[in-house]
Amino acid sequence: PRHFAIVPAAGSGSRFGAGLPKQYLSLAGRPLIHHTLLALCRSPHIARVLVVLAPDDRHWAGHDWRDLGPKLETVYAGGATRAESVLAGLRALETSAADDDWVLVHDAARPCLSQAMLDALVDELAGDPVGGLLAVPVADTLKRQDDDGRVAATEPRDGLWQAQTPQMFRHAPLLAALEAAAAVTDEAGAIETLGLRPKLVRGDASNLKVTFPADLALAELILFARRE
Ligand code: CTP
Ligand code: MG
Repeated sequence: PRHFAIVPAAGSGSRFGAGLPKQYLSLAGRPLIHHTLLALCRSPHIARVLVVLAPDDRHWAGHDWRDLGPKLETVYAGGATRAESVLAGLRALETSAADDDWVLVHDAARPCLSQAMLDALVDELAGDPVGGLLAVPVADTLKRQDDDGRVAATEPRDGLWQAQTPQMFRHAPLLAALEAAAAVTDEAGAIETLGLRPKLVRGDASNLKVTFPADLALAELILFARRE
């Protein structure tokens, strides 16, 4: 089977609160999403990369993406939720993807994905019947709150993981699961509603999602530290 990538990039970045969607903010001299797409486009595993944009996106066309090469395609069909944007990408692949081709869904807002992490995901899931996702064990102590905003309990964190992306599943079951699942926040959640158990592949904390301004500063440090 082949591997395709879908990059949902139709969000507005409301929590970040910049004047433009966070995927277009400058990071190490390029739009943030350029780093995200470069990691996927340069991987020999991946045949095509579909970036899903908001139908009214006015930022994408203002940049030059030619150095990312011929694997990159745009789909101006993002929806109101991340899941709807991913569905738009899956539908755009429907005529060309075989049922068992792999789809890697990766947030535009995760610009620090390394080739090592991507290779680990693809290698560990090769031949897997379900698929899986990059994730990291929870590092912080977890508190459950009561109605007064006080600690009701300290929750054991053993066995708890934080989900990252890419999340890698086969095209047909992922499309069916996302079409049927109402409110899921990631692809694994949709696959779980089918009664299947996605595999956790250990990622790295450096594969952070840029959500708040401090995340952008950290992402820049991570990218600079990696430069040869
Ligand atoms: N995304 C999308 N379509 C949406 C919402 C989100 O394609 N309707 C994408 C974002 O562009 C991002 C990824 O999904 O790359 C993860 O979402 P998130 O970090 O929540 O980004 P935003 O929704 O843009 O940010 P916020 O929730 O703060 O508004
Ligand atoms: Mg969001």
